[in-house]
Amino acid sequence: MFYEPANGHGLPHDPFKAIVAPRPIGWISTRSKSGALNLSPYSYFNVISAHPHLVIFSSSGHKDSVAFIEETGEFAANLVSGHLAEKMNASSVSAPRGVSEFDYAGLTPVPCTLIGAPRVAEAYATLECVVTDIRVPADRHGKPSGSYLVTGEVVGIHIDEAILTEGLIDIRKAQPVSRLGYMDYATVSDVYQMWRPRWDESKD
Ligand SMILES: Cc1cc2nc3c(=O)[nH]c(=O)nc-3n(C[C@H](O)[C@H](O)[C@H](O)COP(=O)(O)O)c2cc1C
Repeated sequence: MFYEPANGHGLPHDPFKAIVAPRPIGWISTRSKSGALNLSPYSYFNVISAHPHLVIFSSSGHKDSVAFIEETGEFAANLVSGHLAEKMNASSVSAPRGVSEFDYAGLTPVPCTLIGAPRVAEAYATLECVVTDIRVPADRHGKPSGSYLVTGEVVGIHIDEAILTEGLIDIRKAQPVSRLGYMDYATVSDVYQMWRPRWDESKD
């Protein structure tokens, strides 16, 4: 099938987010200027540069995470493993501003090392980020999307050493949760390796 999103898909549910899947989940923790804590999952999340280390997440609307980040210029991106999936989901509740989703979901906020935002003690890794850019992407006609795209530079990284095997991140131990389409999630179960091909100039 082919469809133009502007004209509808004709399927029971919009397949867009199920097509671009799995998506990693950035579990974004922030602290407001007045000290309120906030924690929410974002699956519009990814690494966009290794040098420097840059990550992005996108908020569909001006949510508390974005509001707190605008106040402080800092956030932490925690990673979610399978046994924390329910708590991650609980932390997506639309709690009134000022109510900590750490408390609501039964998670432990601990101080970060370089930034004022807290991190999730139970997470297998946390990226401490300083914001470099917040912008509202537009559609092809220049109409603002209503989403807030936050870019942050990773200035500090926490890793739970329990997920290392011989110094490498062992994804079977970390068991990251990813967002699929609809109400579906997955944890990584099948890992294999590939090396990039090299062009053989002798055959040119
Ligand atoms: C797995 C998962 C992924 C989510 N991804 C996003 C996302 O990428 N962008 C977004 O705006 N909301 C996303 N949400 C919804 C937010 O987590 C939810 O709106 C939350 O209440 C926002 O909290 P805040 O206002 O404290 O920032 C997601 C929810 C779940 C459970």
